[in-house]
This record gives sequence, structure tokens and C-alpha cells, in this order.
Amino acid sequence: MRHWTILGIETSCDETAAAVVCGGPPGPGQILSNVVFSQLEEHRPYGGVVPEIAARAHVELLDEIVERALAEAGLGLSEVDAVAATAGPGLIGGVMVGLVTAKALALAAGKPLIAVNHLEGHGFSARLSDGAEFPYLLLLVSGGHCQLLGVEGPGKFRLYGTTIDDAAGEAFDKTAKLLGLPYPGGPRIEVLAREGNPNRYPLPRPMKGREGADFSFSGLKTAVRQLTLEQEVDTADLCASFQAAVIDILIDRSKAAIAMFRRDFPDCETPAFVVGGGVAANGAIRSALADLSAFEGFAFTVPPVRLCTDNAAMIAWAGVERAALGLFDPLDAPARARWPLYPDEAA
Ligand code: KG4
Ligand code: ZN
Repeated sequence: MRHWTILGIETSCDETAAAVVCGGPPGPGQILSNVVFSQLEEHRPYGGVVPEIAARAHVELLDEIVERALAEAGLGLSEVDAVAATAGPGLIGGVMVGLVTAKALALAAGKPLIAVNHLEGHGFSARLSDGAEFPYLLLLVSGGHCQLLGVEGPGKFRLYGTTIDDAAGEAFDKTAKLLGLPYPGGPRIEVLAREGNPNRYPLPRPMKGREGADFSFSGLKTAVRQLTLEQEVDTADLCASFQAAVIDILIDRSKAAIAMFRRDFPDCETPAFVVGGGVAANGAIRSALADLSAFEGFAFTVPPVRLCTDNAAMIAWAGVERAALGLFDPLDAPARARWPLYPDEAA
């Protein structure tokens, strides 16, 4: 099997990242470097990511981050096989910075370009880390997305469920903001929840038990807001109660999607449940999903935390998967603010 060495670039949100990864499908791959600069401090005063500030920071940082990724890998640009960059979905200013930089590098070095869907990057991380075999059921939980998908390969996804309002990470971030906790809220809520009583505040579980596998989180956030208006809340208890509600919702919807996956792939002898995206960094969520998988007879794979939150190694790896199929892109490949993983989603 041919091995590919790919330089990956990620700039779709508030992480400026570059990485070099080597390997071939189904993985695991070798991460030669994985440089991530988080712009947290730039955005913290605003309580969320400010697109214009993010784009400017990417412009200022990216050249040096790419140089460091190549240096740490011990390679020159001429030694990589292709340059992969996130081409969407994401904050368009940042996406353009990364994609245009990748195009310039590809052109200057005479290497092919690979325009990567950021969600495909998250979705294939478990192949980079553990060599997960297609097909698998994927729960993609990040700041911008919450989806359950059947995954068969690059560009081959079937949708089982998606959020009808907020993403799971967004629910964490908005709830944290209501409680006066700093951005990003997910990690902070997880820490506080460890000290709290998850049964203290009864919170709703929107969509639980409904047909299909769609999610909804906005009612949960509204219930938290209502509580904070009505009474003096105990922050740790509320964090624990909130996180318990999110876990309940994720488990219920994943269970429904497991049944759908089984129907679609009746011959899959060793079905697997794979998780990706920043919210998969949450230890309580990981262990609840691991228990569900064991109960359902699914192998469970979740990448290490540094490959769950935004990074460029996952973009380089998506590049490996695409290069192995000869899926390269022209130098006029567009940057896209919206870019659904499956053709029938409204763009
Ligand atoms: O995948 P990601 O880094 O960026 C996007 O593509 O959105 O995900 C970021 C999201 C944020 O909403 C953040 O609060 C959430 O992931 N997150 C967590 C944890 N770590 C990050 N949520 C819950 N618990 C965590 N430990
Ligand atoms: Zn992401």
C-alpha cells in the first residue's frame, strides 16, 4: 500500500494549525508534527469568537505555524506529496486565509492541492488514531455541529440525525456564558460538573424518545436561563445537571442511530461507533458513550483529546484518504462558509 506524506492546514475557526501526517488508509497514520495555536486570549474579552479578529490572527500566524510544522517533521516542502487545507465549512475569512496559503504553497512547490471538508477531518480522526474500518457510525459533536452519520469513505456519508437548533458544543458555551463562566464553556463546565450534584436541578431532555435521531438543545439552554432568573443557583450543581441532560440526549439519539445503522449495514460483522469533534474531549460523555457501545455490541473508538478539538493533523489525514483515491482539487477550489457532508442537505 502506498503511503502519503501530507501537509495539512486548519483555519476555519479560532485555531491556527498546521501538521504533517504520513500513512495510508485505513490507518492508523503517523503524526510527524501537529502544531496548534489557539487564539483563545484574542477572543476571550468578547465571550466568543469574533470572525474579523480570527481572520487577522490567521494571517499573522499561519506562515510561521506552517514553517514550524515542517521543521518539527524534519521535512522541506518539496518532500511532502500534497498540501491539504480546510476549505469549509467555517468562518469564511479564516477559511480563505488557510486555503489561499495552501494554494500558494502547492503552486510554488508543484504539489497537488486537496480541499478538505472540516467535518470530514473530524469524521476520519478515528482512522488516523486507531485505523477504524469503514463503515462506522459517527457521532460528530463540535461547537458548530451535532450529527449522527453512517460513514463509508471520503464523500460517502448518510445522515441519521442532526440538530434542529444549537450544536452540543454551542449549548455548553451558551450555558457557560449564562453562568458567567469564560469562553469556551465546555471544558469549564466539565470540571465544575465533577463537584456538583447532577440530580439537583430537573432539566428537560428535548427530542428524547422521538422517532428518528435528530437533536435539539435550545430548550435546555432556555431552561438554564429560566433557573438563573428565578433563583440563586449553585453553579457546580447546575453544571452537573446540565451535563447529565446533554449525556441523556446524546445516548438516546445515538441509540436510535445505532438501530438505523444496523438496518443499513446488516452484514457488518464488527460494527463500530466512532466519536469526533471538540465535545468528544469531555470525559463523562466519552465514558457514557463507551458504555452504550459495549451494551449494543459496537466497538467504540474515540481519538485522543488533541485530535478531537480542532487541529490540522485531522485535515492532513483527510488529505491522505483523498490522495489515496486520486481525489485532488484544482487551484480555483472555492472556500465555503457552508458545506454539507451529504448532497441532500440544504446548502
Ligand atoms: O471541534 P471544535 O474544537 O471546534 C468546532 O469545529 O466547533 O469544538 C469546539 C467545541 C466548543 O463548543 C467547546 O466548548 C467544546 O467543543 N468542548 C467541550 C469540551 N472541550 C471542548 N465540550 C464539553 N466538554 C469538554 N471537555
Ligand atoms: Zn471542528
